[in-house]
Amino acid sequence: MKVRLLSVRGLDRRDRDYRRVLQEAAAVLRAGGLVAFPTETVYGLGASIEVPGAVERIFAAKGRPPDNPLIVHVAGPDDARRLCTRWPEAAQAAADAFWPGPLTLILPRSSLVPEAVSAGLPTVAVRAPAHRVARDLIQLAGPLAAPSANRSGRPSPTRAEHVLAELGDLVDVVIDDGPTSVGVESTVVDLTGPVPLLLRPGGIGVDSLREVLGEVEVPLPWDPAGEGAAADPRLARSPGTRYRHYAPSTRLVVVRAGPARDLEAAVEGVRREIRRLRQEGLKVAVLGADEVTRALSGEADAVVPLGPYTDSVQAARRLFDALRRVDDAGVDAAVAHTYPPLGVGLAVNDRLLRAATEVRGAGAAGGGEAAAGGNRGAAGGGGPVPRRVLLVCTGNTCRSPMAAALLRALAVEAGLDLEVRSAGTGALEGAPATPEAAAALAQRGIALGDHRARLLQEADLAWADLVLTMTRGQRDRLRDAYPQAAGKIWTLGEQGGRPERDVEDPIGGGEARYRATLDEIETLLRRLLARWRGQEGT
Ligand code: TXA
Ligand code: MG
Repeated sequence: MKVRLLSVRGLDRRDRDYRRVLQEAAAVLRAGGLVAFPTETVYGLGASIEVPGAVERIFAAKGRPPDNPLIVHVAGPDDARRLCTRWPEAAQAAADAFWPGPLTLILPRSSLVPEAVSAGLPTVAVRAPAHRVARDLIQLAGPLAAPSANRSGRPSPTRAEHVLAELGDLVDVVIDDGPTSVGVESTVVDLTGPVPLLLRPGGIGVDSLREVLGEVEVPLPWDPAGEGAAADPRLARSPGTRYRHYAPSTRLVVVRAGPARDLEAAVEGVRREIRRLRQEGLKVAVLGADEVTRALSGEADAVVPLGPYTDSVQAARRLFDALRRVDDAGVDAAVAHTYPPLGVGLAVNDRLLRAATEVRGAGAAGGGEAAAGGNRGAAGGGGPVPRRVLLVCTGNTCRSPMAAALLRALAVEAGLDLEVRSAGTGALEGAPATPEAAAALAQRGIALGDHRARLLQEADLAWADLVLTMTRGQRDRLRDAYPQAAGKIWTLGEQGGRPERDVEDPIGGGEARYRATLDEIETLLRRLLARWRGQEGT
């Protein structure tokens, strides 16, 4: 197929050439063709939802898994309402505040939405884009289903050249209107439940959403290398979050700069990774803030700067192009770092971490996630005696409920006045504890009662004086996601005087494994209590 590249760069909307391009593209869409067009976030690959068979061509062109639904782009709330069976107040408020713009709302789907668009889900994703070309196309051709115009799994396109390079012979028309302004995709929020739920961080920050919607739930953690996303069953509602994504072909190491927004830690972490990779004989590029690329330009084989460290808006705008440029830099590997997780910075980190082949901590020695926050370890043994302790694991069915029940019992024994809760970063709400966990506790004469798994909420973190995770990975993801609570988040090992110990998940390991896990938890808790008792006395 011969693609037609139609440019409107530099043209005024009233120019006849601009209008001709839009008319031509709209005609292609109405005939069931595929048109790649700019939005303010990234270029989309559009098809009409009103022409039978058109949407299916999108899946074929992208190589997109058929169970990953598409966003329907509309002119505004009136269009959107027709596509939904419910249009709650929250939807209207969000649309009033953020449309046209980079926000996608998930709502119950009406019969006007073809099955293929929603990949069989009972919901539909709707968004009114702000870009002039997108708006004019929708005006002329009606609602458009459009994913990002990249091959599935690749970085999203922020320039027409990206689309041509990747999908050039699979689309009918590409409209070029220059680089996009936001640079990362829309924020996706599910409004089908009682509380709005963030399904994908994007162009609209969580804080801005909360100003309009009140409470917004943010599942944990936005960890690409996928573990976190896969661990939260609710993210299955947004199938796109399941796949590794945005990946350049080059090996990509991402250093978590940590919740302290510590530029120095980012520089040191990136430097350490450059050295490690170069020792393997690799050529290495640095991808990151100007301050970082400048500091390390003498030590790397190439640099791809993204603007000032505190300017995550600029980093978002440049990110996807930069990820593609890494592949052209003639290097074997690239090292990048995360940004302060504020505003669109959360989306930048999400995309970087999803693109990563390896994620490393920023801390000093050792490398690996284990090193994250390592420079904080020394302080792990300190702090005043807490009154409210939150124990966190992943599923809240084994480790954290066992630890919570045991800590309650030990506190009573020690005469300490302590409130204890537990929760999981990926818990399936209401799931019972595993029978092995209850059995291991029963051996010590402790009843687990009718424990039901709870998904960790931001309110839990606000409630607690001390948050104890089972592993260093959990600790780091929590600190990243909740920088305001970072100072009270530790591993049980750190607080129990064994900072190098993670309490691993015993699930699937049989009763003996559970007993060993509980023994380990008890050792750490007893050491911790001994220290607290000592402090209470002074
Ligand atoms: O900024 C954007 O949103 C861009 C531009 C082109 O508008 N589009 C975009 O589309 O990023 P796509 O297909 O690359 O990503 C859409 C995301 C995917 O993660 C998908 O799983 C999710 O939205 N999604 C779509 N429909 C959904 C639904 N009914 N329920 C939950 N998630 C849905
Ligand atoms: Mg995409």
